[in-house]
Amino acid sequence: MRYRIRGMHSTIQIGKSDLRVPPMGIGAWQWGEDLIWGIGRNYNRANAEAAFQASVDAGLTFFDTAEMYGLGGSERVLGACAKTTHKPIVIATKFAPLPMRIGRRTVTHALDESLKRLGVAQVDLYQVHWPFPVIPIEMLMDILADAVAAGKVRYIGVSNYSAEEMRRAHAALAKRGLPLVSNQVKYSLLHRAPEVDGVWAACRELDVTLIAYSPLAQGMLSGKYSPSNPPPAPRRFMPDYNTAALERIQPVIQTLRQIGDAHDGRTPAQVALNWLARQPGVLPIPGAKNAQHATANAGAIGWDMTDNEADLLSQITLGWRK
Ligand SMILES: NC(=O)c1ccc[n+]([C@@H]2O[C@H](COP(=O)([O-])OP(=O)(O)OC[C@H]3O[C@@H](n4cnc5c(N)ncnc54)[C@H](OP(=O)(O)O)[C@@H]3O)[C@@H](O)[C@H]2O)c1
Repeated sequence: MRYRIRGMHSTIQIGKSDLRVPPMGIGAWQWGEDLIWGIGRNYNRANAEAAFQASVDAGLTFFDTAEMYGLGGSERVLGACAKTTHKPIVIATKFAPLPMRIGRRTVTHALDESLKRLGVAQVDLYQVHWPFPVIPIEMLMDILADAVAAGKVRYIGVSNYSAEEMRRAHAALAKRGLPLVSNQVKYSLLHRAPEVDGVWAACRELDVTLIAYSPLAQGMLSGKYSPSNPPPAPRRFMPDYNTAALERIQPVIQTLRQIGDAHDGRTPAQVALNWLARQPGVLPIPGAKNAQHATANAGAIGWDMTDNEADLLSQITLGWRK
């Protein structure tokens, strides 16, 4: 069965929740993070606020942050921005399972601090940022289920969980009568591991939404980077962004451009996000540093590439499906 992207006015359901959002969200990591993204250097808080406003104006409602992003900075900016709109938005944040965080109290304390920074009494989606070897999954889910019972969390999700870890989280929550609604993993045309590592299959089987992070491969799929114009540090020193990687992706960028040209001059980023959003049960959350990024990325939905174009993109990126 072929999947069609619906416009901003239509919504998708996140797992078995009553959260309904447009088929694309926004990642807010950039809104408070200096080391990798450089807030305060090549863009600033006003740009982040404008990105929020542009997203809301474009009809996007799902915002993803984490206590780790800028050590609370992203949550603070998102919380302040949320107060500037009357439109209903959905906020997802994440618990950082750091090794010293042993025990129930550290989890509830982290949640309380996130709620304070976001300026809300309840968060819509609370995700475990990565697998946590210190607390068994069953115990952690039990703690989070208590947070739902206490009214601090509406729904529970995980991030970077394997298929097996998802199943354990799902089963543990089911014992408490709660759904696991999402698993947030890295997924883009240049990182197609979820298609083959069992995560996407498990998401479909368990009715869990796959929230796709780094859907633009951290800017690589925008087409603006090349061997002669690499991304700024520290990305340029990472293996995924070195000269060889930049050379290897150029044919993909070329194809994205050709497809975009056939659809009213859509950009490579819009075409790459459109391909992702047509995968059933997948919610891409591109990060945006400014209003221009946010508005451009919102133009990724509300139109359809043809099945042949989608197949072509799948075919030429098979080398990244591992
Ligand atoms: N759960 C996890 O472990 C995890 C990990 C990573 C991210 N995330 C979440 O996923 C979100 C998105 O992932 P990401 O930030 O890693 O990567 P991404 O969305 O693939 O890339 C975002 C970057 O691409 C560039 N960009 C965005 N839109 C653009 C446009 N229209 N035109 C040109 N360039 C554009 C910007 O960087 P430049 O302009 O500097 O190139 C931007 O910072 C994050 O904000 C965060 O919420 C979660």
